Amino acid sequence: MSESKINSVAVLCSGGDSPGMNCAIRSVVRTAIGKGLEVYGIQRGYAGLLEGNVKEMDVSSVGNILQHGGTILQTSRCPEFHDSEIRKEAAHILKRKGIDALIVIGGNGSFNGAWQLHQEHGVVVAGIPGTIDNDIEGTDYSIGFNTAVQTAVEAVDKIRDTAHSHDRTFIVEVMGRKSPAIALHVGLCTGAENIILPTKEDIDFDQIASDIKRGIKRGKGSSIIIAAEGEKEGLSHRVRDELLNTHGIDSRVCILGHIQRGGNPTAHDRFLASQMGFIAVEAIYNGKEAIVTAQRNGQILDVPFEECLGKKFETDPKFVDIVKSLSI
Ligand code: F6P
Repeated sequence: MSESKINSVAVLCSGGDSPGMNCAIRSVVRTAIGKGLEVYGIQRGYAGLLEGNVKEMDVSSVGNILQHGGTILQTSRCPEFHDSEIRKEAAHILKRKGIDALIVIGGNGSFNGAWQLHQEHGVVVAGIPGTIDNDIEGTDYSIGFNTAVQTAVEAVDKIRDTAHSHDRTFIVEVMGRKSPAIALHVGLCTGAENIILPTKEDIDFDQIASDIKRGIKRGKGSSIIIAAEGEKEGLSHRVRDELLNTHGIDSRVCILGHIQRGGNPTAHDRFLASQMGFIAVEAIYNGKEAIVTAQRNGQILDVPFEECLGKKFETDPKFVDIVKSLSI
């Protein structure tokens, strides 16, 4: 029996998966067992919770997983969770199974669900930021972002090879439906000539075309435009058509897509996830009732849940300026 009011904890992943989630699960499970708690893994996020898909985990359940992408618990998007009756049912299931606290690894939507469970039904909750989009308010980084950027950078480096061989322009679309974070970082790390952000309503095609032509004039072999996918499909193809039809610039489109969500987590994401899992369990074990693990100024802390409910849009124009200054 532990000294804490919490005797058992469950962990789930929710929303889009992100590399490093397995590290966080391992950390949660082993920290909790080390404190004498019972630990349960909920399969397939909130949807699995509603189906009662809950299994006890032990030290071996999380052996040999920290280096793998994806999540052993699987994940899901669960729109039903917007319904308060459904959340009531979820709180009952947790109670019936004797689970005292819930740890949610996910992004904004998942955090909102956890916060509502806490507010409406007093469920003790901890959030661990896990999304490649790095768009959670209150934390400098979320688990998976670093890996996604690294994967995209390696892909763009390869594209640059072939672009250069053919004197070509490429439009490379990266993930981030509403978040510009991946596009900004990948653009800067790959020496892109231009970045198109998901938040941008009017794209300045004349400017993009004149940048490409200026490069060609000074003997550049290739141009790379990084486009964030945005909410509407087909942005990259629109850019390609516009460049061709209005400016006579032939280009190719490469949509990186879900390869950015898979793969082995980088050391950075393992470092972050291992600490966040540990701190989440410590916090609830020590009596905190609603926290998120956040990185601030290089430190991993537990912070009040309500500080991490918003979406952040890091459109710092400084990045775009640097990209443009360096690609003259
Ligand atoms: O998880 C975040 C994210 O990868 C976004 O960047 C992307 O727009 C979205 O998920 C894609 O979601 P899905 O895999 O459900 O199509």
